[in-house]
Amino acid sequence: MQSKSVYLTRMIPESGLALLTVAGVRVKMNPLARQLRREELLEEAPHHDAIICQFPDAIDRDCLKAAAPKCKVIALCAVGFDNVDLAAARELGIIVTNTPDVLTAATADLTWALLLATARRLGEAERFVRAGAWRGWGMLDFLGADVYGKTLGIIGAGRIGTAVIRRATGFDMQVLYSAGQRKEAAEALGADRVPLAELLRRCDFVSLHVPLTPQTHHLIDEQALARMKRTAILINTARGGVVDQAALVDALREGRIAAAGLDVYDKEPAVPQALLDMDNVVLLPHIGSATDSTRAKMAQIAASNVVAVLRGEEPLNPVPA
Ligand code: DGY
Repeated sequence: MQSKSVYLTRMIPESGLALLTVAGVRVKMNPLARQLRREELLEEAPHHDAIICQFPDAIDRDCLKAAAPKCKVIALCAVGFDNVDLAAARELGIIVTNTPDVLTAATADLTWALLLATARRLGEAERFVRAGAWRGWGMLDFLGADVYGKTLGIIGAGRIGTAVIRRATGFDMQVLYSAGQRKEAAEALGADRVPLAELLRRCDFVSLHVPLTPQTHHLIDEQALARMKRTAILINTARGGVVDQAALVDALREGRIAAAGLDVYDKEPAVPQALLDMDNVVLLPHIGSATDSTRAKMAQIAASNVVAVLRGEEPLNPVPA
């Protein structure tokens, strides 16, 4: 396949590169240690048979049109595909693939870490120690919220949401979930399906696991936040756009909810100053799937999808158009 080339919008782990090399695909990579600007992506897009891209790359209609005469496949190194205009890809005959399953456990683990860190104020406590402010043990210092035995609400009980429910069972939590349809795997773990409004009203922790779509954009808005308990904690490891960030800042500032743990933001990498200034939020830089082995598997899958399409075979993980 020496005549075929793939463009990588960012470096991927070695295992993915090796797979492309063994298959004989020529690899060209963005040499910069940053995401490509729109005009740079548009300039590169027409010259390759495949593009391996990342979640922050805007694969919109213009980009797909530029790529279309030559490009056969856009392989995302991510499970989420809200950055790709799927309708345009379908019209232009470009296959889109993603990397589901392999990142489920790592993302659920990170969600759980964030939930615990937010409940037990780990970020704040760690900053306190590093600042040299600790003067000794205090009975009333850093009192957080119990996780054990509380009620957890999962919005979107797909693969990752269900894996979070599995982790909650070890903490004897009651779990409620809201989803468009019944989820047997979630119910097998003891979770009960309830309407969203009821979930928001009853839960101590609310964790978001829906993809970003026009229907889920700002699903957690001012009204939804107003339904939550004043003691509730919101966790978001899905997509920033699922939450109305301005409404969240107001709710946190006015004590209408207790705290938030965020791995994702509306306009990454921008994080509103108001959130940076708050001690009752734990802020992470979109690292849900960031473990060595998970990222290696994601790269291998993206590379395998490219190789399959360039060989004229079915890819492993086509995103339904
Ligand atoms: C995903 O896989 O969708 C992650 O959010 C980042 O790529």
